[in-house]
Amino acid sequence: MSFKTFFSEQARKPSGLFGRFVMSRIFDYGNNTLNDFMQELLSLKKNDHVLEIGFGTGELITKMVKLINKGLIEGIDLSNTMVAIAEKKNKKYIVEGKVIIRQGNFEETAYNDNSFDKICCANTIYFWPDPDNCIKKILRILKPGGKVILAFEDKEQLERRSLNTNVFHFYSQDEIKNLLSHNGFSGSIDILSKEIKSQRYHCAVAVK
Ligand SMILES: C[S@@+](CC[C@H](N)C(=O)[O-])C[C@H]1O[C@@H](n2cnc3c(N)ncnc32)[C@H](O)[C@@H]1O
Repeated sequence: MSFKTFFSEQARKPSGLFGRFVMSRIFDYGNNTLNDFMQELLSLKKNDHVLEIGFGTGELITKMVKLINKGLIEGIDLSNTMVAIAEKKNKKYIVEGKVIIRQGNFEETAYNDNSFDKICCANTIYFWPDPDNCIKKILRILKPGGKVILAFEDKEQLERRSLNTNVFHFYSQDEIKNLLSHNGFSGSIDILSKEIKSQRYHCAVAVK
């Protein structure tokens, strides 16, 4: 396996020592700007029920839980390696009942209809085999008036990186917008963009 494929697979599902020690640092230091941008747009309220899909090391969960008191932050991630890191990092909040962390594939995990005030997902949509199904599911499990934020890196920026496109699917802003509107998000869909240290990021914001 080439390093390009190995690295792309590790980004999709971190595992082993490389996942634990290398990918975790890449996520924490490389993705914090995009995660802060997404968190700003979430405008969390004290009693919000939030789901983060593909939480990686759980860094954003730790930041979000500090902003709620009666609410609940749930996270789902495919990788056992990331789940172990996120559980350790958020142990106090899990014990207090403010955080629930689950291991699994979002697409295959059961959630009740109309459950969440906010759903967020950074740098993970690239790996969804059936994005239509995932967006339909997000719509179903959001409460009426609930908000979804999909955060992603600029398509042209990602295309310049050494990543395997059989593992990563890159999206333009219009493609994400269409994905949301074709799968039932009928209100306005905003794409907000930010350029930081010559890196370009986008957040798609839609309301049920
Ligand atoms: C590139 S990392 C991004 C992590 C974090 N959101 C960040 O911005 O640093 C993608 C994460 O999504 C998880 N993931 C990929 N596909 C997933 C799926 N279908 N369901 C849940 N988690 C998934 C991976 O295990 C990985 O931790």
